[in-house]
Amino acid sequence: MGEVRVAVLGVGAMGADHVARLATRTAGARVVVVSDLVTERAEHVAASVPGCRVVADPLDAIADPEVDAVLLATPGAAHEKQLVACLELRRPVLCEKPLTTDVASALDVVTREVALGSRLIQVGFMRRFDDEYVALESLLDSGDLGRPLLLHCVHRNATAAPGFDAAMILRDSLVHEIDVTRFLFGEEIAAVQIITPTPNPGAPIGVRDPLIALLRTESGRHVDVELFVTTGVGYEVRTEVVGERGSAMIGLDVGLVRRSTTGRWGGQIPAGFRERFARAYDTQLQRWVDAVRSGAGTDDQVDGPCAWDGYAAAAVCAAAVESLETGERVAVRLADRGMLSGAGG
Ligand SMILES: NC(=O)c1ccc[n+]([C@@H]2O[C@H](COP(=O)([O-])OP(=O)(O)OC[C@H]3O[C@@H](n4cnc5c(N)ncnc54)[C@H](O)[C@@H]3O)[C@@H](O)[C@H]2O)c1
Repeated sequence: MGEVRVAVLGVGAMGADHVARLATRTAGARVVVVSDLVTERAEHVAASVPGCRVVADPLDAIADPEVDAVLLATPGAAHEKQLVACLELRRPVLCEKPLTTDVASALDVVTREVALGSRLIQVGFMRRFDDEYVALESLLDSGDLGRPLLLHCVHRNATAAPGFDAAMILRDSLVHEIDVTRFLFGEEIAAVQIITPTPNPGAPIGVRDPLIALLRTESGRHVDVELFVTTGVGYEVRTEVVGERGSAMIGLDVGLVRRSTTGRWGGQIPAGFRERFARAYDTQLQRWVDAVRSGAGTDDQVDGPCAWDGYAAAAVCAAAVESLETGERVAVRLADRGMLSGAGG
């Protein structure tokens, strides 16, 4: 395959970023079609890319004969229908998380992909492409820390978008720590419990923030996650693994340490995920484009988290939302992966 001709569906915050990334920083790809429910938005983004057309109906955009692959940056509620259309036409697709918005539809998508006998769906868990997470995973693989025993995670935002409630903190923020846990430990999460400490008085009324999530993996490893989305400070994502022979931490933001004439020293806290994970988004997209090009005509056009990873994360999120209501530890109900042979991984 020459250049991968991509349709980008949903050109809001993430989609517009991905279009710019594909157009200016990704080799071997071209955005040929964009589609958005808001036509003016699609037209505005298309105008920034030479040769890019607007196709109003997202399903027509997927089916467009000029399109080789699809990038879904629509809201989660639109993913199921658009993913099914991609599978029916055998279009490789990079789907922003979440795979779908509920466990049953996520499993249905996995099952459909397995029935095709192809790996066409990649899910946008971009932290797997971040240099620091990759280094941490390599360290664990090397065995130098011995067996990993504990994972401590911090996920803080300065402010939450209006309407962001506690369940959304679990589905949109915790979901990344869930994927990180599965990525670093290489096993499924068996149970989850959500603890609700004294709320931040600065959080919007009715929003329980901060939250603590306690995850337990199948082999019994412990993971704790602080989720605090109204700190007023900045975007802070830290991850520490404690093993038999030492520990390792990432996310310290120690890129540049400045010492100034005011007698102060310090560095920069990223404002948000777009700044913190900018390189990871670029790498994710380049690796996906390379996988689509090299896998063209084969049954494997994915290089990264797959449909099963999206489904497994959805199952843990569902258990976390249940625990939010009860405060009890909730077992994660996962399908038998062995019965879905070829689910990829
Ligand atoms: N990986 C990450 O770090 C990360 C970060 C933020 C958002 N996301 C995910 O990216 C996706 C988009 O999020 P966003 O923040 O860009 O949202 P957004 O609201 O800024 O953009 C979504 C766009 O999709 C359009 N749209 C809505 N329904 C559509 C449909 N059925 N067909 C075509 N277009 C449709 C909207 O008009 C809007 O322009 C979500 O799935 C979100 O969870 C991922």
